[in-house]
Amino acid sequence: MCKPGQTRRDRDVSDAIPSGSARMKVTRPLSLILGHDRAWPSKRPLTSIGVLARLALAMTGIFSPAPSGIHILSHPLAASFLTEIRDQTASRHLVRHHLRALGLLLFYEATRDLSQHPVRVTTPLTEADGARIAVSVGLVPILRAGLGMVDGILEVLPEAKVFHLGVFRDEKTLEPVEYYSKLAQHKPVDVAFVIDPMLATGGSATAAVSRLKSWGVKRIKFLGVFAAPEGVTKLTSAHPDVEIHLCAVDTRLNDKGYIVPGMGDAGDRQFSGE
Ligand code: PRP
Ligand code: URA
Repeated sequence: MCKPGQTRRDRDVSDAIPSGSARMKVTRPLSLILGHDRAWPSKRPLTSIGVLARLALAMTGIFSPAPSGIHILSHPLAASFLTEIRDQTASRHLVRHHLRALGLLLFYEATRDLSQHPVRVTTPLTEADGARIAVSVGLVPILRAGLGMVDGILEVLPEAKVFHLGVFRDEKTLEPVEYYSKLAQHKPVDVAFVIDPMLATGGSATAAVSRLKSWGVKRIKFLGVFAAPEGVTKLTSAHPDVEIHLCAVDTRLNDKGYIVPGMGDAGDRQFSGE
């Protein structure tokens, strides 16, 4: 049953949010706070404190607009998949399946503004006006965990180029260490999507975006599943021009740099053998 002032979608999303999530604290209808994956409207550049404060306020329901360029995917399928992969008993098969599906849903939303050019085609009956994507698209999964989100995207855009970027976090310093890249051998793409389910301290994503910029990419978007407020702040402060598409901004990082509640180690949960 919906509570007063709550739409059916709000209730469905609230029901899907596990205990301990930052979004448990949301007291206003979620549709007011998160919207239908619309960008939070402000156009002003935000300081890191501004981003953090507004994120915190958006999560507590005091202030509905969130920072410009940050999009939270609000969809019953995404909420359900997210909840299932948080569950520590979820099998690797299920985690891989859901991350693949979430990658596709995020990409679908993040490509709404891709440039198109008009084309005319001849059908068996007559001619018809249509459109084709006018830009080259690059998918840049951060190894390992980003890999699991790529295949779903390639099903809808098989012509996208994939550039693997190997980055791991030093366990002690939490600083990103790059160990694999072949970007320089290719011509830069028009639009690149950095793909990684976890935006924790934000170090890996920030380094990946810097790498793409020095390669020559002009338009970059980040697709992630779970974020900590700290990671959003770091990436937004370093690269305010990069749009961020996420499924959830969780409560915090723990002392080992893990997103809480999160899903644990996203690489291990997809790939390590038992
Ligand atoms: C994880 C995750 C991100 C990074 C996020 O990778 O997939 O790449 O940590 O953390 P950050 O925002 O603090 O940089 P990890 O270093 O564990 O490597 P893996 O995917 O190979 O396990
Ligand atoms: N990397 C992960 O895989 N999980 C986290 O929670 C943080 C970084």
